[in-house]
Amino acid sequence: MYRSRPKGPLHKDILDFLSSIGDDDEVFLYDLLGSQAHVLMLHDIGLLVHDETKAILTTLDQLKHQPELLDKQNAEDIHEAIESTLIKQIGMEIGGKMQIGRSRNDQVILDILMKVRDDANTICDSLVRIMQSLLEKADENVNTVMPLYTHLRQAQIGSYSHFMVSYVDSLFRDMERLYACYGRINRSPLGAGAVGGSRIMLDRVKTSKLLGFGSMIENSIDATSSRDVIIEYASNLALIMLTLSRMAEDFIIWSSDEFAFIEISDEYSSSSSSMPQKKNPDPLELLRGKSGQVLGDLFAMTSIIKSIPSGYSRDLQELKPCIWRIASTTNESLKVLTYVVKTITVNKGRMSEASNNSYALSFDIAELLSLKYGIAFRTAHKIMGLLVQRAAVRNKRPLRMVSKEDVHEVLEKTGCIVNAEEVLNDIKGMTPNLSISSRQSVGSPNPKQVQDRVKLLRARALKYNERISARKNSVHEAFQMLAQLVKKYSGNDVGGIN
Ligand code: ARG
Repeated sequence: MYRSRPKGPLHKDILDFLSSIGDDDEVFLYDLLGSQAHVLMLHDIGLLVHDETKAILTTLDQLKHQPELLDKQNAEDIHEAIESTLIKQIGMEIGGKMQIGRSRNDQVILDILMKVRDDANTICDSLVRIMQSLLEKADENVNTVMPLYTHLRQAQIGSYSHFMVSYVDSLFRDMERLYACYGRINRSPLGAGAVGGSRIMLDRVKTSKLLGFGSMIENSIDATSSRDVIIEYASNLALIMLTLSRMAEDFIIWSSDEFAFIEISDEYSSSSSSMPQKKNPDPLELLRGKSGQVLGDLFAMTSIIKSIPSGYSRDLQELKPCIWRIASTTNESLKVLTYVVKTITVNKGRMSEASNNSYALSFDIAELLSLKYGIAFRTAHKIMGLLVQRAAVRNKRPLRMVSKEDVHEVLEKTGCIVNAEEVLNDIKGMTPNLSISSRQSVGSPNPKQVQDRVKLLRARALKYNERISARKNSVHEAFQMLAQLVKKYSGNDVGGIN
């Protein structure tokens, strides 16, 4: 349809090569809404008469309800398919007027931003949901002790609750980043034209409002060329996936036979074709794998953008499948992990046993010795290190089983004039629960602190829930208003997208 200068049709193989129609289903409805807003505005500024407006809007409305009427044949993309179907149905004289003051270049970025806007809200919603599930588990487990790891070796004693809160804190940052970039997503490029605007006094504010945007991207080159906001959005989703991947990896380790700290519900576990005993954490492994795919798509996107000049270039079309894939993978992964979190069985006994027998209590005892007897922390560190050394050679015995002689010998070796009996009592009295309840620094697993933090985070999650709903409503209301205006002309109820 666009071939005014080139002679004859596009070579069939080339059409297949350059068509984006396969990736455009995701924006079909957005493209229709954008066209409706544009047409209403053209009527307002006197470029379309009532009957023309009515004919175009009615046909677009019909396409919306009967997408099978769309003629995709020979179309390079959804914009061409919609316009050529329109022209086929109502003729060139009227249908051919729709595209005045507009180009596929402002259309495509409009469609992408409208989809990204909805997806950003959906993903923020899913983030709130997973955080609420984690907080529920945190609330139930403030006294559930477990070892914490660095280098995947037991480091200190913590609690399951404190761990869940650490995920929430991390996910909150992920959400705040996505939430903040919404302001940049929610700006209309419509009316920028091909690259340099139009001689028509297009009412850009009107189309922007009709489509529920907060403002517009003013400069026509910027509006049609820049994709930084899309990259920012995709990077934010990739960061979410990195958090989810770390969580998945933790859960995989904790649910292994050797750890057995948690059990993943049967419903979210796979089995083996040959080993009957197997219960594999496949959904979590896939999530970990998919996070790599998302990073790959983000890398593809930045590579596509690098080195193209300002002004639309067809390379930009290749961004679309990456954007759609990143969003659907992130949202699906959030949903899957939410189910997993909700249905995990926390094996408190096993975690308590691991904590009780852990040399990770050495850190607490070293701090205690240092504070109680005024010993330099470095010396206390040495004392505990030597005691662990002795316990470890004796069949990895827990610290509480060291003998008075051991303690006496180590104190002497380190030049400490402290009563060995008393130190032995300190060692024996150090339980995992005492260890966490004595932790005073802000952000530690102290159950009291964690409880307060859970309360605060719950309230914060609710606040975000309301804010996200308000954003969704404002888009929804704009679409409803648009539908009503369309109905006034076409005599049909077009309905919003949501
Ligand atoms: N199918 C194109 C895309 O997805 C639409 C814009 C085409 N514009 C152009 N001047 N060829 O990016």
